[in-house]
Amino acid sequence: MKKEIIGVGLLGLGTVGSGVLQVFNRNGAAIRQKVGSKLEIRRIAVRDSQKDRAVAVSPELLVNNVNHVLDDPQIDIVVEVMGGVEQARLAVRRALENGKYVVTANKDLMAQHGTELLERARAAERNIFYEASVGGGIPLIRPLKHCLAANRIIRLMGIVNGTTNYILTQMTSAGKELEEALAEAQALGFAEADPSSDVEGRDAAYKLAILASLAFSSKINPGDIFVEGISGVKLRDIRYAQELGYAVKLLAIGRDTAEGLVLRVHPALIPLAHPLAAVSNEFNAVFLEGDAVGEVMFYGRGAGSLPTASAVCADIIDAARTIRHEVDNGIVEITFSPRPVVPLPKQFSSFYLRLKAKDQPGVFASLATAFGDARVSLDMIIQKRSDAQTAEIVLVTHEVEEARFAGALEVISALPTIRSINSVLRVI
Ligand code: NAP
Ligand code: HSE
Repeated sequence: MKKEIIGVGLLGLGTVGSGVLQVFNRNGAAIRQKVGSKLEIRRIAVRDSQKDRAVAVSPELLVNNVNHVLDDPQIDIVVEVMGGVEQARLAVRRALENGKYVVTANKDLMAQHGTELLERARAAERNIFYEASVGGGIPLIRPLKHCLAANRIIRLMGIVNGTTNYILTQMTSAGKELEEALAEAQALGFAEADPSSDVEGRDAAYKLAILASLAFSSKINPGDIFVEGISGVKLRDIRYAQELGYAVKLLAIGRDTAEGLVLRVHPALIPLAHPLAAVSNEFNAVFLEGDAVGEVMFYGRGAGSLPTASAVCADIIDAARTIRHEVDNGIVEITFSPRPVVPLPKQFSSFYLRLKAKDQPGVFASLATAFGDARVSLDMIIQKRSDAQTAEIVLVTHEVEEARFAGALEVISALPTIRSINSVLRVI
């Protein structure tokens, strides 16, 4: 007999959890039609049940102990939107042991423990849905698992962190400092509980690990991803980049090469004509290339209450359909095997370099010689300004092996004419 009422329990009622409740309040009738059963939110675990909430909620739904949700036999689907790793991991395990389907928006959890948890789900004949873990409201996980499944994915490149994209946009368009723009992103609910995860690129690396594992059918250890955040990006570099025809973006890049997988997250200068250069504020975009489909781009709001809730609720609907129709639509995880990751020194990039040098004859020549000796070819070299015998020089290299560039930089830093190396950024 078909289940007419499907019980849902939430772990967390913060930015994302409140959005989930709002979407249910707003679209509950339509969701019921789409599923064929009524979805009923039966319990919500929070830390502080006295706290003011962004959404109206009956106080009797609130509990202080996650186990009251996880062990409730009336709950069929557990929605983990509380964040953190260890407690969330234990909660997901317990939910699966208790025969529940799981929906989560937690990329830290899925990037670090996804393989183990998905295996547990498979063993329990249940599933974990995690569309909201990457790209907020943008469909990415499902397209990779389903619509693009016939392709060999050659590369992916994207802006997958809303907070840093908001910060870089505000630095570029309003000349704000990083700290001011970060405070705004926090107030808007985009940032993680520990915002250094956003700013230092870890959040984007977790998302890249999830996307790359699906794209390249490989187990990805987030620790194998080269990660550099945006804390070293200065307003001056953003302005110079613009003059040179580039925007500065935090990019997550994955490529399938003959030598192995290239996996990296770092700020980069990207040509203003590139579609990713126009992605602003909390918007995210991911560009994929498949051997059959060619290039595909996904774009939308990558963070925030309702956009993220859109993906979480879609997962709840999928889980509910699975329950209602007793079909095993969810157990589609590919069996992943690890692939080698190309070490950073062996990867290739173009570089933007800003440095200060003595303003005297022969400085350009000494730079050109040092780069020439290291067989690093220069694309542009410009003296930006000088004061009190100091010249600021900006240069861009052609593509070069990372190790070779690092060697050249070491030589240049030691030149008597060079006062300081102020910025090194990669260029797409
Ligand atoms: P949040 O605003 O900090 O909300 C966390 C919620 O979880 C709060 O309601 C908190 O209770 C509750 N909670 C935390 N620890 C708990 C515990 N031990 N027991 C019971 N309740 C607990 O976080 P969020 O921004 O909604 O993010 C939640 C998850 O979604 C994270 O994994 C995040 O990475 C992911 N995510 C967020 C976004 C976004 O735009 N914010 C987008 C995509 C994915 P109290 O309210 O009582 O403190
Ligand atoms: N902190 C994340 C971001 C939330 O800014 O993108 C969405 O995953």
